[in-house]
This record gives sequence, structure tokens and C-alpha cells, in this order.
Amino acid sequence: AFASFKQVLTDGLKNGYAVGQFNVNNLEFLQAIMETAEEERSPVILGISEGAMKYMNIEYTVAMAKAAAEKASVPVILHLDHGSSYEVVLKCIRAGFSSIMIDASHYPLEENIAKTKQVVDACHAIGIEVEGELGRIGGVEDDIAVDDRDATLARPDEAVRLVKETGIDALAPAIGSAHGMYKGNPELDFERLQTIRDLTGVPLVLHGGSGIPDEDIRKAISLGVSKINVNTENQVAFTAKVRELLEKDAKLYDPRKYLGPAREAIKATVREKIRLFGSNNRA
Ligand code: G3H
Ligand code: ZN
Repeated sequence: AFASFKQVLTDGLKNGYAVGQFNVNNLEFLQAIMETAEEERSPVILGISEGAMKYMNIEYTVAMAKAAAEKASVPVILHLDHGSSYEVVLKCIRAGFSSIMIDASHYPLEENIAKTKQVVDACHAIGIEVEGELGRIGGVEDDIAVDDRDATLARPDEAVRLVKETGIDALAPAIGSAHGMYKGNPELDFERLQTIRDLTGVPLVLHGGSGIPDEDIRKAISLGVSKINVNTENQVAFTAKVRELLEKDAKLYDPRKYLGPAREAIKATVREKIRLFGSNNRA
């Protein structure tokens, strides 16, 4: 069976570590994430975006994740990543997901609260825990002015309202990280993070975990982040290995001969993150 989202995050918050949400893009990602979590004795969150769900097929996705969780001796969570609507959330719960993220952050606050609350009410009624988002995480552009930047980041007063009025179990506040590879170094707003932590008390989630310097990750964890999402770094490692092998040998045709090594490449990235997050030897 899948583990409890809230329990896993709360243990991290209490003991000063974060659990990685590693996004699953295909079977090799799942294998790499699971093998590494086992080897490192770490709880793990399998993140499934709507895009990945369409790519893999929702039934295949849940069946694979269930098989993985059954085989595992560490806590495993199957989490919807950036769920966009109540309908998608219901579909995922019905299919067997164990926790949910509803991302209504691009709506005005009142609507974000209303949409998130609708999901929380339905999910909590059947024992499923929910992550919400506040502020704009993606696309922080280099030429954005401070005032504009301020408008895209999560406001502490709004964070309090979102948490209190919806009952979410975890909050992903925009504090300056971004999805994908960074052009320069990200500038995380730690003061904002700390204020939101102090005012809300819920476990916090850091999205866009790829490419953030190690010191910043450690600092974020010390300020209340107990879940960190990583996708792009694994994709880059996987694809670099495939590219290298195909370029080296034009006659290669057996997918296992390049996907196998690419899977090993993901394992190295996941291991690095698990140790950086401090979730090793916690299971
Ligand atoms: O929700 C997914 C994550 O936030 C992934 O971000 O691709 O920048 O690692 P990333
Ligand atoms: Zn994200």
C-alpha cells in the first residue's frame, strides 16, 4: 500500500529533512527512482504530471506504481503533480493515486481558495491529502523588475488564507524557483519562506528543484521545506546518456542497450538529491 503523504512530510519537518518528489516519465524513471530509494533507505514520492499521465496512460501508471510500492520496503507515495481541475483530481483518485496536488495558482486568490477547497473537501472525505500552490512558480524572467517579481511570489497574508480556508496539508509557495533549467542562479526569497512557515505551520514544498545550489536547498529545508520536486535534472541525465550512446554507435538498435545505461544515469542524480535532502536512512 502507499504511504501517508502527511505522515511522510511531517516526519521530514520534525526531523529537518525533505523528501524528494521525483517525476516519472516512463518505466526506466520509475525503476531508477525505486531502486535508489531502496538502496538509500529513503521514503519517496512518485510525481505524475498530467502530461506524463497522458503519455504513459493512467491505468498503466497506477499499476506500475502499485507494483513498485508493494515490492518496496520504504514508504512510497503516488502523487498527482500540478493537477489542473476538480475533474482530473477525481479521475486520479478513482484510478488509485494516494495524494493530490491541485494547482489553481494562476487564478485570483478567491478562486484559488474556492477551487482548492473543493478538492480538499472531496479528498479529505476519503482520506486523501492535498498540496496547494500560491504564487507563480514558472517563468521568472531575468528582466522582471523587483516589484513585478514581488507580485509573482507568494504573499504571506495570502498563504495564511489559503491554508486556513482550504485545509490543505502542504503548501507550495512561489519563492523564486522555476521549472526547467535555470539561466542564471535562482534567487530564493528565504525571508518570505520563513515568514510563510511561521504563519502557516504546514509542511512546505519547493518546486523547480533542478539546478538550485546545494546551500540553497539546505537552507530551504532548515526553513520548513519538507518536499522538493525534481524532474528536469533527471531528464537531462537520462537524455545525455541516450545521446552519447547513439552518437557513439550508429548501429545500435536494441533500446535496452541505451535505456538501461540511461536508467543508471538517473539513479546517480536521484541518489545525489536524496542525500542532499537528508532523506536517506529515514525509512
Ligand atoms: O512539479 C515538478 C517540479 O517542480 C519539477 O521541477 O523540472 O525544475 O526539477 P524541475
Ligand atoms: Zn512543479
